[in-house]
Amino acid sequence: MTAVGIDAIEIRTGKLQLDLPNTFAPKKGEDPEKYTKGLGLETSSFPDVYEDIVTMGANAAKSLLDRKGLAPDEIGRIDVATESAFDHSKPVSTYIAGCLEQVYDGDFRHANKGERKFACVSGTQAIDDAYNWIRAGRNRGRAALVIATDTALYERGDPGEATQGAGAVAMLVTEDPSIVELSTEQGYGSMDETDFLKPNQQFPSVDGKRSMQVYLSRMREALEDYESIVGPVEPDTVAYAPFHTPFPGMVRKAGLFAYRHITRNTSIEDDLAESIGRQPREDDYESREAYEEAISEYMDALKGTDRYQEWYAETIEPTLGLSRVVGNWYTGSVHLARASALRDAAERGLDDAFVGERLLVGSYGSGAQAEIHSETVRPGWREEIEALDIDEQLASRYDLSFEEYTQVHEVHDYDKSVDVEEFTVPDGEFVFTGWGRMNERTYDYVE
Ligand code: CAA
Repeated sequence: MTAVGIDAIEIRTGKLQLDLPNTFAPKKGEDPEKYTKGLGLETSSFPDVYEDIVTMGANAAKSLLDRKGLAPDEIGRIDVATESAFDHSKPVSTYIAGCLEQVYDGDFRHANKGERKFACVSGTQAIDDAYNWIRAGRNRGRAALVIATDTALYERGDPGEATQGAGAVAMLVTEDPSIVELSTEQGYGSMDETDFLKPNQQFPSVDGKRSMQVYLSRMREALEDYESIVGPVEPDTVAYAPFHTPFPGMVRKAGLFAYRHITRNTSIEDDLAESIGRQPREDDYESREAYEEAISEYMDALKGTDRYQEWYAETIEPTLGLSRVVGNWYTGSVHLARASALRDAAERGLDDAFVGERLLVGSYGSGAQAEIHSETVRPGWREEIEALDIDEQLASRYDLSFEEYTQVHEVHDYDKSVDVEEFTVPDGEFVFTGWGRMNERTYDYVE
């Protein structure tokens, strides 16, 4: 069977940044280490006045098409995943295609376009749709363009405000891909939950603490479901485990849970038993509470072992690099985690030796659903990853004062109409220009 997977990636960050420990924390009267050590965040990205989910998505897509030398008739599908849509009917993919048609010869009339919704997991679902379309033989040799784009804003004063972010990840899904092949096998954990939702409102209603429990529960179910197909996942067979990263502290917890799960009944559990005992088994306890207390004690001890810390440092920590400096990109977040992992592999000087290695990818969307699959690294991965210009983009972000941050938040609040000067100068990119006669958003390309 021909491999199907991700052939190219481009990342576009919002052009503004908020320094969390030095600008945000002091104004909130909080210890900067809550951000750097607790949540694991340094800065978050925000869109400038002329940026939004369409411009960030279109700019990422244009970089991708230009770098790969692709014309519109080579793209058969454009799917956008977002939870920041501003239109209940017309999908963001049509706006993005409209932008791209301003600058390319030809058009995307032949391309199937859509918008995927299931909170943050929808970016992965859009990749699934592309994979299935190619596997079904319906693509007529064309590639699929998948764009995950979000402006992840919370109500001012909401605890989630600390985890905001904005940006887009564009991915090309093809046969014989350069970066990773996707596994056919997938595991799911899915349940009707009200942990985070936006019932006809721009900013989410969030039960933050509960959302973290729901994330962990659905991820565990997805992992169990995945293992029911492929057999037990062994820690040493996974090079990196990119997970959905609402903030790195969440993945720090998920990594520990995952390690406990995948080392159960293995020689690693036996080795660790000498210093921290064996994992508690529910049947050995009289009540659920007693069992949970024992698990919590075991996890605390496990976290302190060299064995776990080495695994975490190699497999999880490198996936968090971009998230630490951009915040939560919702649908794009797990795709940033994959890119961070591959950037780490390139920085470590890996090349051919990395081909064939496995990533265990865990996506999550509130509401709630987790999905786990694996990806196999392909020849060509390094060239693609080294082509990313995200470091230059990050270095040139405008650093907001707290007062400027409050203005930017208002500019992107759909219920407010404020006039704020742009902080950066558009240069060779799509920009938001205003509203048309039917209240549609309008865009231009600025040379
Ligand atoms: N030094 C070091 N660490 C500190 C500290 C300090 N001075 N002060 C606090 N901390 C630690 C805390 O101990 C805590 O870590 P642990 O959980 O490991 O104990 C961490 O910093 C955060 O502190 P708080 O729990 O006090 O933070 P909070 O109550 O203000 O809010 C939050 C945290 C609930 C996650 C909030 O940011 C939130 O609601 N976020 C949005 C929801 C979210 O991201 N949920 C994640 C799962 S849902 C999902 O993944 C979908 C999605 O993308 C939204």
